[in-house]
Amino acid sequence: MGHIPVLLSAILEYAVLDDNSIVFDATIGAAGHCIAILEKYKDKRIKYYGLDRDFEMLELSKNKLSGYENVVLIHNKYENIGEEIEKRNLEEKIDFCLFDLGVSSVHLDTAERGFSFRFDAPLDMRLDRSENLTAANIVNNYSAEELADIFYQFGEERLSRCIARKIIEYRKTKKIESTQELADIVKAVYPISRNNQERRIHPATRVFQALRIAVNGELIKLAQSLKTAAASLKKNGRLAVISFHSLEDRIVKNTFKKLAENKIANNEKEKCEFKILTKKPICAKDEEIEINNRARSAKLRVLEKIG
Ligand SMILES: C[S@@+](CC[C@H](N)C(=O)[O-])C[C@H]1O[C@@H](n2cnc3c(N)ncnc32)[C@H](O)[C@@H]1O
Repeated sequence: MGHIPVLLSAILEYAVLDDNSIVFDATIGAAGHCIAILEKYKDKRIKYYGLDRDFEMLELSKNKLSGYENVVLIHNKYENIGEEIEKRNLEEKIDFCLFDLGVSSVHLDTAERGFSFRFDAPLDMRLDRSENLTAANIVNNYSAEELADIFYQFGEERLSRCIARKIIEYRKTKKIESTQELADIVKAVYPISRNNQERRIHPATRVFQALRIAVNGELIKLAQSLKTAAASLKKNGRLAVISFHSLEDRIVKNTFKKLAENKIANNEKEKCEFKILTKKPICAKDEEIEINNRARSAKLRVLEKIG
């Protein structure tokens, strides 16, 4: 199955647009949210900018969007959102900006991308395949301490040290090349748990998440990217962010809080004022989770520029 956009009805509710509104989608992915927004406002002339770090996702959305006008696709990281906005003179002109973080189902379901232990494939995990660092590079070359730190910090993996030691031991006999090899190493460290909470997810889930974050340098500049996006909104413009794990959500929550408290000089010359529209993050209802398991961990937070 393709990618199903998460929390779509909430996104459509918060994206209040009019004639000539400008949308900046910092993670267009498979264009799911994009097409739903363009369809909802098909009688308005919406200008839609869609950025993605993964060229292959852009190719996919380009095909899906062939019947739509006024869509501009941009290959870049959202860490560089400021330069893309400046290049197009979009400062303080954006009505709705969306960050739907992480990877898409297309990534997880494409075996050769190496994001999932559901398939046996080379350990890759690069969002941008023109970059050099892969998950295999990390697991085969980093020290036990470096690996344990990655698993602990980015995966909140409580057995991080044991898993790192097991990897080093395994490496002495052979290189770790595939997703299955790594998943088996992690699984062997994990005791068979009686705890339901633990059994709900595969033991390698956290290690795979941590490696993906490390390979792609996720989280490093997320706060700064959100500040830049917030500063680029028009008055009453909104910034919506969907996160998929607690590390991401913490960054989103704290950045929004600081912006709303005006603690960040987001633009030294003109200070902007913001209001948080979602006191608590919006989560998927059971009906959505039933048809799209990815939605179970999704959290949406929305910020509005008020002045
Ligand atoms: C959850 S998917 C987005 C799905 C999209 N909203 C849809 O409905 O089809 C996340 C997308 O963000 C992209 N991505 C991840 N990190 C990125 C970054 N730093 N800069 C730009 N795009 C990024 C991924 O390549 C992926 O396509």
